[in-house]
Amino acid sequence: MANILFNQVYKRYGKYKEIAVSDFNLSVEDTEFIVLVGPSGCGKSTTLRMLAGLEDVSDGEIYIGDTLVNDIPPKDRDISMVFQNYALYPNMSVYENIAFGLRLRKLPKHEIDLALKRAARVLEIENFLDRKPRELSGGQRQRVALGRAIVRTPQVFLMDEPLSNLDAKLRVQMRSEIINLHRKIEVTTIYVTHDQIEAMTMGDRVVVMNRGLIQQVDSPEMIYNKPVNMFVANFIGNPPMNFIEGKLQERDGQLQFHTNRFALTLIPEHQSMLRKHNLLDRAIMMGIRPEHMSFEPHRIEASTAVIPGVLQFNEFVGSDRYYHIDIKQERPLVARASEGFHSEDGSTVTAAVNMEKALFFHKDTEMLLTK
Ligand SMILES: Nc1ncnc2c1ncn2[C@@H]1O[C@H](COP(=O)(O)OP(=O)(O)OP(=O)(O)O)[C@@H](O)[C@H]1O
Ligand SMILES: [Mg+2]
Repeated sequence: MANILFNQVYKRYGKYKEIAVSDFNLSVEDTEFIVLVGPSGCGKSTTLRMLAGLEDVSDGEIYIGDTLVNDIPPKDRDISMVFQNYALYPNMSVYENIAFGLRLRKLPKHEIDLALKRAARVLEIENFLDRKPRELSGGQRQRVALGRAIVRTPQVFLMDEPLSNLDAKLRVQMRSEIINLHRKIEVTTIYVTHDQIEAMTMGDRVVVMNRGLIQQVDSPEMIYNKPVNMFVANFIGNPPMNFIEGKLQERDGQLQFHTNRFALTLIPEHQSMLRKHNLLDRAIMMGIRPEHMSFEPHRIEASTAVIPGVLQFNEFVGSDRYYHIDIKQERPLVARASEGFHSEDGSTVTAAVNMEKALFFHKDTEMLLTK
């Protein structure tokens, strides 16, 4: 078991030296479960492959424990990796698939047998050991692939989108199996996904990446509630956060967020945070999540923070219903309605905003101002 340190790590590929990963700094604690998340091409796999030794580091240092591993070959790094395409050997039984790596290491037969039985028990695949991969379901195959990784206890587990081939239901099931597995064996794990739900539910900490750069490293709660910039705010959360463009103005000593159709008074805490930024009468972005609005009349009467608009349509997603409201901005406002609320498409509505939950971003830098 080990901690991991990335110190100013860069990766440039090919003859054009295109930057895939830039100034990557991260300290992973021993036994921690870290999730790297970000859109396709942002450098997640490259980061993992540098740690595994499958790609050279262009610049910077990577440590596993106290050892600088930049020049250590993959097989000597004591890492187990599960790939997106788990490619089992089709002609080998489940047992042979899992034992393969141990046989290469020339472990004695009884030791292989012992390690294998233990892994099979943890993953609940004891009854399939004689079958060929084609005789298994997708989820069972995925567990065999995991079995290959956990059959020994390495210093570090790396998982690159290990669940991406599974259907939604199996994915949820395997998600919790991997978490349970981690609780049992407590090996430092770095897990890559582009699925933000997976990131939020699995990670002790989440690393959000974009275009080769770390945007934020934080607990899932902080990533959700205090995103450092509009990229993170937009990437995490489904449906995504609403962004409204307006101006910061002062009325009777109070800071307000103004558009040409409505004005919202900021809570005192946000007012004092924003006063530091010298943005009066300047354009500013407000972010508000769909669940932080409501249509309940009694709340609206009491609130000065309401947004008028016209209902375009609503989406029923089982547990919730989301209303899309035309507020004459670039995008419609999406608001989650409580169960009692019903309204016809095309009708005029007033959405009350929970201003405590509103976030304000710099229009040009897109950085969070109310932190
Ligand atoms: N072998 C390579 N040679 C040149 N460029 C590469 C190579 N591998 C990856 N890249 C580029 O590096 C960038 C990062 O790729 P990477 O595979 O790390 O992204 P990712 O975050 O894992 O994306 P995905 O979610 O699609 O798997 C991309 O722009 C990609 O085109
Ligand atoms: Mg990848």
